[in-house]
Parts: sequence; structure tokens; C-alpha cells
Amino acid sequence: MNNKFVWTKKDLLGLEYLSAAEIKFILYTAGSFKEVTTRQIKKVPALRGKTVVNLFYEPSTRTRASFELAAKRLSADVLNIAVESSSVKKGETLIDTGRNIEALKIDIIVVRHNCSGAPNILARSVSSSVVNAGDGWHEHPTQALLDMFTLQEKLGKIEGLRVSIIGDIAHSRVARSNIWGLTKLGAKVTVCAPGILIPEGIEKMGVKATTDLNEALEGADAINVLRMQFERDTAVAFPSKLEYLKNYGITTERLEKCKKNIVIMHPGPINRGVEMSSEVADGKNSVILEQVTNGIAVRMAVLYLVSAAKEIRR
Ligand code: CP
Repeated sequence: MNNKFVWTKKDLLGLEYLSAAEIKFILYTAGSFKEVTTRQIKKVPALRGKTVVNLFYEPSTRTRASFELAAKRLSADVLNIAVESSSVKKGETLIDTGRNIEALKIDIIVVRHNCSGAPNILARSVSSSVVNAGDGWHEHPTQALLDMFTLQEKLGKIEGLRVSIIGDIAHSRVARSNIWGLTKLGAKVTVCAPGILIPEGIEKMGVKATTDLNEALEGADAINVLRMQFERDTAVAFPSKLEYLKNYGITTERLEKCKKNIVIMHPGPINRGVEMSSEVADGKNSVILEQVTNGIAVRMAVLYLVSAAKEIRR
């Protein structure tokens, strides 16, 4: 990796908008920060004097906590806005909320929103950096980056890997960001789901689509198993959770037919006994908790780079 690469983007809105070189540079930078996270004192002064705001319009455990820890490990101040008890409940618009937060002299807004494209709108309306922490069905770029970072760590590369994404592709921002990122870095991606959960024309994104789980598992180096989103529209896709497990769930019996060292990922939260059995989730091929750990280093890299880009623009 060329460490003379200069990052110039003030926002991280999606992997669709990044080049392969930019994605590789984030992963390279995350590698340096991973080393920081293993030290006894897990802190560097890179963002001292900066303020990061977590603005989450949807629930989150992993992403919100991980951004907060990432910011603190870079020595930034962190402000968490609880949307449920904010003036959003009085009807304040996203743009007004963003501009008012910016008036508090902050530097980075990390936003999760149920509307696809909300971070893009916010980024056009404020001069602070905006980082997408998941927007509707659109993108979840830092999740895909941490997935790729974990894959690279486990298998030594991304290029040429066969990665199958299994589950509700239609409603998944994680799937979309992974497809953009993995295909740009040269992985061979297959998506697999019941037909109604595969968006029409997905092949145009450079992936193979199948409704046959055995086909998706055969020869795969890694699988990324998506959460069935019962809070959204996925319940129409199959008659019961048990039937989903039977047809599309990853179980020990299915794993026995896969590559011995297949890497099993899941963005969380897991519906145990639906998309994956507990034996698989907690088994030796699972890297689910390592993904969570790597999220801190990846988000440190993203916060550091968008902040550096703003400094260059000053
Ligand atoms: N993977 C993920 O986005 O999890 P949270 O919803 O808990 O942040």
C-alpha cells in the first residue's frame, strides 16, 4: 500500500462513492489503529480538540458503541444525541438538527437514519464531516469495511475470494455496501435468498444471484449471513422462522459440506435459530465477535481520515 496516498473526502457516505484505492487506504489505516487497540493504553491524540456527535435515529448497539469508543481512543470529545428525547420529536427536520448541532462547533456527525440517502442530504447541508452509520436499505459502509478488514485478516487478501452473502438482500444496507466494496477489491460475490428477497437486476452490480443455498455455499471461502429483519418487510418471504432455518439457515450439517476453513460472518444482531444455529454462531469458523472488535480500528481510521480531509480543505 502506498502510504503517500492523500485522503481528500470530508464525508464517508457509502462504498459506492469510493475507488478501490480509497477502500484499500481505509483498510491500511485501520491496520495501524488496530495495533493501538491492543496496547495497554489504547489512546492516541490524533483527534484531540475535535468533537464527534453520534446522531442515531434508529436503534444500535454495535455501531454506536464502536463509534463512541473509536472517537474516545482518538482523544476526541463525544456527544451522543438521544433522538427519542430530542427536538426531533417536536418535528425538527434533519437539516435543522444538523445545522443546530454544527452551531455547537463540532467537527464530525455520525448519523444513522431509517431513510436511504439521509446522510447524503445532511452532508450537503453542513460543513462538518458526515459519516454514514447506516441509512435505510442504502448503505452501511463502516460495517462492510470492518467485514473486509476481518476477511483480509483471516484469509490474507480480498482479491479472488469467493464470498457469499446470504439472507434478506433486498432490505439490507449491509449487503449493498459489501457488494460495492468486495467487487471493487476483486472478490467473486454470490448473493443468495428466497427469490422475493433478491432485488431484480442485482447482477448489474457484478454479483451472481441464486435461490439455491447449496450453490452459494459450494466453494465459498467466506459467507456473510444477514439478519432476517422482522421489523421491516421480510416476514412475507417465508411462512415461518423454522421454515427459513430449514431452507436458508446455516447449520452444522450444512457447514460439513463447506470448505473446512470457511469464514462465517454476521453483522449482528443474530436471530439465533433463524438465519444461523447457535452452534454455528459460536463455532470455530465464526468470526462474529472479531468483526465487532475490528469495528473500532476501522471506525478510528474513518474518523481520522475524514477529519484530516477537512484540515486539508481549510
Ligand atoms: N451491525 C450493526 O449495525 O449493528 P447495530 O445495529 O447494533 O449497530
